[in-house]
Amino acid sequence: MPITYHESQNLFHLRSNDMSYVIQIVRGYPVHVYWGKRLRDDANWNGMVQRVQRASFSPNPVEDDHTISLDTLPQEYPQYGTSDFREPAYQVRLADGTRITELQYESHRIFSGKPKLQGLPATYTETDDEAHTLELTLADAYSGLTVVLSYSVFEAANAVTRSARLELAEGAAPLTILRALSASIDFHDRDYEFVYLAGAWTRERHITRRPVAAGGTRIESRRGASSHNLNPFAALVRPNTDEDQGDAFGFSLVYSGNFLAQAEVDQFDMTRVSIGLNPFDFAWKLGAGESFQTPEAVLVYSSEGLGGMSRAYHRLYRTRLCRGTHRDQARPILVNNWEATYFDFNADKIEAIAQAGADLGIELFVLDDGWFGKRDDDRSSLGDWFVDRKKLPNGLRDLAERVNQKGLQFGLWFEPEMISPDSDLYRAHPDWCLHVPGRRRTEARQQLILDMSRQDVRDYLYEALSGIFSSCPISYVKWDMNRNMSEIGSAALPEDRQSEVAHRYMLGLYDLLEKLTSAFPNILFESCSGGGGRFDPGMLHYMPQTWTSDDTDAIERLKIQYGTSLVYPVSSMGAHVSDVPNHQVGRITSLAVRGDVAMSGNFGYELDLTRFHEEEKEIVKRQVAAYKELRGLIQTGDLYRLKSPFEGNETAWMFVSEDRKEAVAFYFRTLAEPNPPLRRLKLRGLDPAISYRIEGADAAFAGDRLMHFGIPLPQMQGDFASLVFKLRAE
Ligand code: DGJ
Repeated sequence: MPITYHESQNLFHLRSNDMSYVIQIVRGYPVHVYWGKRLRDDANWNGMVQRVQRASFSPNPVEDDHTISLDTLPQEYPQYGTSDFREPAYQVRLADGTRITELQYESHRIFSGKPKLQGLPATYTETDDEAHTLELTLADAYSGLTVVLSYSVFEAANAVTRSARLELAEGAAPLTILRALSASIDFHDRDYEFVYLAGAWTRERHITRRPVAAGGTRIESRRGASSHNLNPFAALVRPNTDEDQGDAFGFSLVYSGNFLAQAEVDQFDMTRVSIGLNPFDFAWKLGAGESFQTPEAVLVYSSEGLGGMSRAYHRLYRTRLCRGTHRDQARPILVNNWEATYFDFNADKIEAIAQAGADLGIELFVLDDGWFGKRDDDRSSLGDWFVDRKKLPNGLRDLAERVNQKGLQFGLWFEPEMISPDSDLYRAHPDWCLHVPGRRRTEARQQLILDMSRQDVRDYLYEALSGIFSSCPISYVKWDMNRNMSEIGSAALPEDRQSEVAHRYMLGLYDLLEKLTSAFPNILFESCSGGGGRFDPGMLHYMPQTWTSDDTDAIERLKIQYGTSLVYPVSSMGAHVSDVPNHQVGRITSLAVRGDVAMSGNFGYELDLTRFHEEEKEIVKRQVAAYKELRGLIQTGDLYRLKSPFEGNETAWMFVSEDRKEAVAFYFRTLAEPNPPLRRLKLRGLDPAISYRIEGADAAFAGDRLMHFGIPLPQMQGDFASLVFKLRAE
């Protein structure tokens, strides 16, 4: 059992292949002892928590031992109001108006496997030996509040998942939860940097790195979605940690709504990192006998730098967060009509694009926005999920079958969570959207948000969507969501539960997704939110891929895809070749470089294929054939980032198969350079002892030479150039 309880020292040692996580109960308080490189399971753990008596400004809750202060003890789930002045992990308001609780160890349970999280997405096991779980039960005798801290260790992934369940005893007076984070850890020093993913619509998930310092560093979302702006992920790294070496501690939240992640450096230079539901504008009434489950935080440790951390997340998320029929299947090459036609299409145009796709070897046609209601622009019809007979006179089934006859699967776009004020649905149910009585209903893209906390709204959506899913041969669904929340209120909840709405919305969304994805297991779902506005582990649990960004410019995509790969597997990223000049930034790049960038994802095209001339068709045929040959490696191989677009003019990454017999490396040079220096590309992840043949070269090269000496790069002409190296073991 990789979790050991040392009874004499009241200490728990959680182990994975390369990681240890140690917790000790000190005078009833769960103390964080260690997280990092794996330690031997020693018999003597004494002396690891250093305790000294501090000044009176760090009060002592235990009368007979003044070396104990909650202000200085490294803790696992810090409380508020009993002498710890740092960020608490939870806070409640009791019926008597007080906010003080004191959780003390009550019991624990260690077992194989990992229980499901009620109503929430989470990582999972397929057999009980894949993960082992420790549940620590802490109780506050005065209020009847119990908190169960759950730790599951995935041995192979070097990951420990954490969540908390707050329970109120039968007969206890109701309380209000003001804050319930998923994980909190006190690191013993402050020699760290905080790494996170920041951006905006069309420039999501740019890597940001800065030293932690006295005070706090926080990232959060208050938008009702995980957001384009900041992603629910942060890592703590040493200043010398790079792609290949050094400690990296990742914190990733399996949640799609408002989140908070922060690093606080205290007066004694300890760094408290915590992550969870954002306490901002959140309060949850908990009645006697009820419980509240926090989302799951997935903590990954790597001594092999950010690269090692990312590969651990990729493997875990690809195989034990994503689910369903498509999890392990090769993802189809698609053509989507959005940037080809926008709202201006009819059945003939769609058929023509599908035919052109079939001729090029493309496997799936996706009909995007504009096929329903009377939606000729973005001003109407969201909620009216019935086909527009003006555009598609013979209906969806006829169109889907025609597309199928050409040899392509058929996919369809929806934006189920939204409602247009100009829609039959809104006219029938004006109270079904998020709103606050007496206040304006602020529109964005002329739309409002359906109140997913309501069962009747979810029932309507289930009926409407499942009706369409079963009415024609749909193989793929793009689930879009194009605005953030304002006037967050629900007509279906009482006054004292209005601060629950944003979280209840997410629970409702997850409930609907669970039902739909279970009822239609053969549909490949791709989530989207104006591109990557909800690219998070929560959505990946239901939909194994996400449209990475509305920015389809190849050069912008280098940063977006590179940053996204810090946490998310390549098999989760949609990446399409689009037209030039690019619709988002106006840049002109070659078809070759657009193809090479999009190949590092779930590959597709998003332009009018009927307008290609012969030479372009030949290039596309070659790209499609190349991706079919490479996609197994790209979608399931280990990713090594070689050169960062955030650091210079070059970007490179590569994929290596699990047996290290196959690899492919992509190199991109952004701007042309006059009289440039000679350059080499050093590969990673190969077997040093075997030789690899590079496609197109007439000799084989040893793995160690390719990694340590590198591949000499040719002189390249022009802006926006790319090279691809395909390697196969001899
Ligand atoms: C936003 C998406 O990201 C786009 O790909 C497209 O589906 C539009 N919405 C359609 O309205």
